[in-house]
Amino acid sequence: MVIAAWTMGIGSCWIGEFKEKNVKELLKIPNKWKIVALITFGYPAEYPDPRKKKPMTEIVSFNDFTNKEY
Ligand SMILES: Cc1cc2nc3c(=O)[nH]c(=O)nc-3n(C[C@H](O)[C@H](O)[C@H](O)COP(=O)(O)O)c2cc1C
Repeated sequence: MVIAAWTMGIGSCWIGEFKEKNVKELLKIPNKWKIVALITFGYPAEYPDPRKKKPMTEIVSFNDFTNKEY
């Protein structure tokens, strides 16, 4: 959804921290549904430069964490 939106010039923000009870009330979501994430969409007011990223080798582990020092 995030990438598809961006192809149309629409920005987004994944929200993983929220009060599920309040969101369910606001959006009238039945209790049997578990909300795992929200995504906001909108037209960006700014286009900041991308932030510097750590290399993938530093943040990705395969199968276990034995090759990492945290
Ligand atoms: C799993 C996940 C959960 C996130 N939850 C939140 C959130 O609760 N509130 C928020 O402001 N941004 C949230 N974000 C957005 C990040 O703060 C950040 O803006 C976004 O990942 C883009 O930065 P990046 O390119 O460095 O990843 C979340 C992103 C991810 C991937």
